[in-house]
Amino acid sequence: MVMKNLMGNDPIAIRLGSLSKVFGRRKRQVRAVHDVNLEVKAGQVYGFLGPNGAGKSTTIRMIMDLVRPSQGSVHLFGENVYTHHQVLQKVGALVEGALFYPFLTGRQNLAVLARTGDVYDEKRIERLLAQVKLTEQADRPVKGYSTGMKQRLGLAAALLNDPDLVILDEPTNGLDPAGIQEMRGFIRKLVDEHNKTVFLSSHMLGEVEQVCDRVAIIHHGQILQEGAVADLLAARNQLRIEAAPLDRAEALLSGEWTVTADGRWLELTANREEAPRIVQRLAANNVAVYQVRTQRQSLEAFFLEVTQAAEVTGG
Ligand SMILES: Nc1ncnc2c1ncn2[C@@H]1O[C@H](COP(=O)(O)OP(=O)(O)O)[C@@H](O)[C@H]1O
Ligand SMILES: [Mg+2]
Repeated sequence: MVMKNLMGNDPIAIRLGSLSKVFGRRKRQVRAVHDVNLEVKAGQVYGFLGPNGAGKSTTIRMIMDLVRPSQGSVHLFGENVYTHHQVLQKVGALVEGALFYPFLTGRQNLAVLARTGDVYDEKRIERLLAQVKLTEQADRPVKGYSTGMKQRLGLAAALLNDPDLVILDEPTNGLDPAGIQEMRGFIRKLVDEHNKTVFLSSHMLGEVEQVCDRVAIIHHGQILQEGAVADLLAARNQLRIEAAPLDRAEALLSGEWTVTADGRWLELTANREEAPRIVQRLAANNVAVYQVRTQRQSLEAFFLEVTQAAEVTGG
């Protein structure tokens, strides 16, 4: 029994080692996920970001053992998923297009799922319905639910077995701004108040910036960047400089930075520490500097920069 209690308490909730998946064979091969290495520490919201087709759902399916990798390993709380299947009991997931019985009510759907998973507990179902704010709609057939209500029911379903790790594939897909904000609140609470770990995927970066502690950016099946959201963004500033003559200013800076001219303004992305040096160089070369504005780069802009750089270099 002691062994059992010690088992699966690794502080690393998810560890992916050289995870790869190739679909199809020969000429029809699709390299969906390529050599992904990732560690997700327990107790945080981890964002898995990438455009459509990047390989997010395939990775999540491999984590859940719904798809077997072509190569590599998945460990959850220190256990190999493929040899220690029972570790999946600690996981709750909302995968793409959660399916419910349309003619059953929300409450009935949860009951069916709970019984199937052998975790039926009426009080728990009521608590979960309240948690995702569906108590009042619980007796309506799911076929009449909005996308947001179905997503919230999906979240409740993912929590039925009181999982330590909650995996959400595009949880804000199809939600309106109010629904997105609400989902964000639910997700943060799971980590901040219920000590869970959340791994979520998204292609909507602006939304994720506010809820995730850490993110990995995946593109064409490969991780391009990984880090704490704050660290990834702290160093990146969007600099707008009003200067004249603008063409001389542009020529002075374009060797070291990627500069675009916009009216009387130059725009460039630079580290905060570089700003004084930029202004100095302009002034020393008889360029008049009227204004300098800095703006923290959004994760969205950062993401575009990272993925576009990968396109150019063929990564
Ligand atoms: N079962 C499958 N058979 C063949 N190709 C697949 C399959 N599932 C996904 N793919 C391909 O793998 C790539 C990654 O897909 P996916 O993991 O769904 O990306 P994402 O979830 O990031 O949008 C895409 O090119 C997709 O077409
Ligand atoms: Mg997907």
